[in-house]
Amino acid sequence: MYQTVTIPKWIACRSYLVGTPESKTIIANNKVHKTILLDGPASDLYAFLCENDATSKENLEKYATEHGLSAEIDGFTEQLHALKMVGFDTDTEDNYVSAPLNYNQDAEEKSKGAIEDRMAKWAFGKGFLWSVFMELTYKCNLRCIHCYNPAFRGMEEISFEKAKEVIDDAVELGCFELTVSGGECTLDSDFIKIIEYARQKRLNVHIFTNGLSLYQNPNLLKKIVELYPYQVGISVYSANKHLHEKVTTVAGSWDKSVAVLEELKKYGVHSQVKTVQLNETVDTWRDTVELAKKYDTAIAIDVTLTPTIEGDKKTWSHLVNDEKLTELFSNPESPMYVGGWKEPPEIDVNRDGPCYAGSHTLCINPNLNVVGCVSLPLKFGSLKTQRLKDIWTDGQKNPESELYKWQHITLAAFKDCFKEDYCRFCHFCAGMGMLEDKLYAKSELLCKLAKMKMKVFYELKNKQTDKPYQAGICQMK
Ligand SMILES: C[S@@+](CC[C@H](N)C(=O)[O-])C[C@H]1O[C@@H](n2cnc3c(N)ncnc32)[C@H](O)[C@@H]1O
Ligand code: SF4
Ligand code: SF4
Repeated sequence: MYQTVTIPKWIACRSYLVGTPESKTIIANNKVHKTILLDGPASDLYAFLCENDATSKENLEKYATEHGLSAEIDGFTEQLHALKMVGFDTDTEDNYVSAPLNYNQDAEEKSKGAIEDRMAKWAFGKGFLWSVFMELTYKCNLRCIHCYNPAFRGMEEISFEKAKEVIDDAVELGCFELTVSGGECTLDSDFIKIIEYARQKRLNVHIFTNGLSLYQNPNLLKKIVELYPYQVGISVYSANKHLHEKVTTVAGSWDKSVAVLEELKKYGVHSQVKTVQLNETVDTWRDTVELAKKYDTAIAIDVTLTPTIEGDKKTWSHLVNDEKLTELFSNPESPMYVGGWKEPPEIDVNRDGPCYAGSHTLCINPNLNVVGCVSLPLKFGSLKTQRLKDIWTDGQKNPESELYKWQHITLAAFKDCFKEDYCRFCHFCAGMGMLEDKLYAKSELLCKLAKMKMKVFYELKNKQTDKPYQAGICQMK
């Protein structure tokens, strides 16, 4: 029988409204890649265990008696132990190799409507800040032809001290997810210290990287593996090395990024192939999807090229051509296939808000500006003079603050949008309109994509219903 209960190092978790009937705890097990949600007394109990790295059986029983849970306590800890969400002192040493997350399982998890998504909405409704996105630096070891980052990339980095302050504030505000990106986040001198600290605070960490530093420094990769991030996203634009390097403009970059995918698979780390498709790479989209499958990764494929953060549309010279866009939307093997969709619902512009940027999540860039997201440079404050928690709290109660105003708008604020049939097919992003023109403007590119999706959607639908009726043929002999 165990004497001590511990929270394993692969757990990310956050508890909310502990001690109330609404108590909730989200737990991500980044070893077996499973996320669960506890409510009520079970949530309170896990929050109690999280207060210390190790809880003695005696303390646990005392807690259980005080809360009327004595009869259930052993069953509860055993259940959590089976899910590897608590450890016992009797456990034998566990090494850091995790279970691989296979591609199809991930697709299935996603379609179930992730717990995280439901929790993000719930948390925002209760006034919590669900996630933070930090661009640690604009420095980069590649020069991708489509990159939205500023033309002049300063050498600023978010220091460990500043990141620690942000993490402390974010955790106090209820934050569960932290994404680090850039530029190339691994080039921040304090990169690994920041990840270590975030994991110490049990944040669920996502890392966006091109992977080059991890290839060059296997110890860095190993440290990341041992810190159990939720996911490491690696950008690979094509399964074809030469086409990928046409985008990154650095010879040898493909081999390195793909070698890192291989290593992540070996260690069972949940990875993602991030693959925005350009005209230069789109001919190989099928092979790129296969590459993601080969390395057991999720795939994030997109064709929406944002203008640069300064609003320069030069990135659009790489947009996928219309013929290939149609193929991506109409081919059942494409992750962007629209044929399997249900009819998109009507949009209630007076009820729905624009997106998660600035509400469920805040983004901090290397200049320490607090903005909506990488593609929504709407500034809510500056960490040079303010604390994140003060910006957020002000946004919750001061109707004059930019954050408050943003969090209280609905889609009706976008006066030129949501008037056409094709708007139901729009992957709406407030930042796109802002970067292309001005805040609340509609986006030329999103309009074009929405129209194409609608056209393909109805063509595919009509083809299905045009099929002549065929009586089934009995196969039984
Ligand atoms: C800016 S990078 C930062 C992280 C890391 N350096 C990398 O490349 O993965 C994050 C992601 O944004 C994508 N990206 C860059 N410029 C873009 C643009 N103009 N439109 C859409 N996605 C873009 C990249 O391809 C990459 O997958
Ligand atoms: S997309 Fe990423 S790797 Fe490429 S230049 Fe931009 S920041 Fe660097
Ligand atoms: S960007 Fe275009 S397609 Fe999207 S909602 Fe606005 S008008 Fe409609």
